[in-house]
Amino acid sequence: MAPGEHLPTPKFAEDSWGQGGVYSTAFGAPVSHPYEVQRSSNNGPLLLQDIHLVELLSHFDRERIPERVVHAKGGGAHGHFKLTHPIPQLTCAKVFAVPGTVCSVTARFSTVGGESGSPDAARDPRGFSLKFRTEEGNMDWVFNNTPIFFIRDPAKFPTFIHTQKRHPQTHATHGDDSTQFWEYMSQNPESVHQFMYLFGPRGIPRSWRHMQGYSGHTFKFVNNDGEWHYCQFHILSQQGTANFTSEEAGQQSPDVHQLDLYNAIEKGDYPKWDIKYQLATQAEADAAGLDVFDLTRTWDRKKFPLKPLGELELNQNVANYFAEIEQVAFAPSTLVPGIEPSADPVLQSRLFSYHDTHRHRVGTNYQQLPVNRPQVPYHMYNMQRDGQMAFENQGGRPLHLSSINPPTLKPRAYELAKSAGGGGPAINFLSGVTSKDFEQPRELYRRVFSEQDRENIKGEISGHMSTSRDKQSITQAINIWWLVDEDLGNTLAKNLKLEQGSWQKPLKELKFIGSHNFEANADAL
Ligand code: HEM
Repeated sequence: MAPGEHLPTPKFAEDSWGQGGVYSTAFGAPVSHPYEVQRSSNNGPLLLQDIHLVELLSHFDRERIPERVVHAKGGGAHGHFKLTHPIPQLTCAKVFAVPGTVCSVTARFSTVGGESGSPDAARDPRGFSLKFRTEEGNMDWVFNNTPIFFIRDPAKFPTFIHTQKRHPQTHATHGDDSTQFWEYMSQNPESVHQFMYLFGPRGIPRSWRHMQGYSGHTFKFVNNDGEWHYCQFHILSQQGTANFTSEEAGQQSPDVHQLDLYNAIEKGDYPKWDIKYQLATQAEADAAGLDVFDLTRTWDRKKFPLKPLGELELNQNVANYFAEIEQVAFAPSTLVPGIEPSADPVLQSRLFSYHDTHRHRVGTNYQQLPVNRPQVPYHMYNMQRDGQMAFENQGGRPLHLSSINPPTLKPRAYELAKSAGGGGPAINFLSGVTSKDFEQPRELYRRVFSEQDRENIKGEISGHMSTSRDKQSITQAINIWWLVDEDLGNTLAKNLKLEQGSWQKPLKELKFIGSHNFEANADAL
């Protein structure tokens, strides 16, 4: 493909039946009137032979697909990515290497914990997902609006998510019953950095246009020679960041973010983001004491400065929400050659989870739907056949690697062994907590937050904690906040009426059911 040539956004028919379409059944037979039903006489029962009615009702019965198990409420739009600073020396991925590259993108923004009807302006992290349609296949970025996450042990994810959902007995959300919410935090203190974001000034974005996106995870750029660098991606809003207070959020309509994006694009006020990255070699990471696989920490921007890569613009509203947003399926494992996952255990687990859930949520052949289908400039050839809704099934081609009609095999640009790393025996993995876990949240609280932000977060946390029914975990959660900042902890203790002087314990005396305590006294473990 020539540089600058634009891979198109797939055609999403506004009305696939066209203007003045003939009203008909799904198998194309004209029907005289949509509301007509056949009955045996004026007061008689209906006729089973009324195929139109039977088809109509049974299709209606099957309209819902399962909602996403997380990130169920969301919306999005289409647009494009423009490469402004090619990096062929770092990656062979054409989308980032070939000057002049522009490619079509579909974006979806979401909250995490709420159901598909829940309010946009909830205090929750936001998903920031992009599907890049590159000439080497699709590349999905399934990012959040915070640079860090609650966990670094993947097996905690389902448990953690359950604590953000409705209580199994009261069925109340954590806004009304925060027991399990704080019980989780009290036992898994590595999550305190993300909780600081959540209850801080960026906890409720004013709009999707006014928020950033971060890979959070470390990825790898690999070039044609198999040389690789660690990288983190940042998507920075050209609109700036803006947020709601809890009070403002409470006054918004449930779909405030969805309508904000839709209306901005309708007006031609297209939102844009700068796409940047941080870069580190293994040696640089080691020298800086940076654990690149720890999703609860950020990379120091002074040591690892942001570098420009490109620009994202969203300029096309969807014509059909269900076809283009509900059925869009993002997966962190959807990557092109030259961009690889790092060994971050959470990322490694995500490589499995998303395709798995899409096969359940959308169906075996979900990649054949227009919004998910790669727009590559060649015929695709693989060994995947049949299954429900096999829309394109690769014709009569033999079902093995056939010498009669062989595919073109494009050799890898580099040897995998060079970039894969690892080796050695398999080990059990569970991270442990040290006082280092409180350093970045402390910096965020003391150095980045304003005096007013510090006051507000005390109110936000104590208000939320006040609905917990479990005093013990609240006490330990406050102890964790106290380890981050004594004044913060003491104020929370006062607000929650903890007995003075009875609860402050150093880290080494705390015991967690969820995390190892690497600083613990032997008898606390
Ligand atoms: C959605 C699993 C961690 C960002 C989802 C979905 C699953 C899932 C099953 C629903 C997908 C669908 O139905 O289409 C997991 C697991 C994780 C994990 C198992 C950890 C082990 C993360 C992290 C991030 C993230 C760390 C961000 C850095 C997202 C986003 C979506 C999502 C943005 C919504 C995608 C969309 O817009 O359709 N996740 N997740 N997840 N996840 Fe994760």
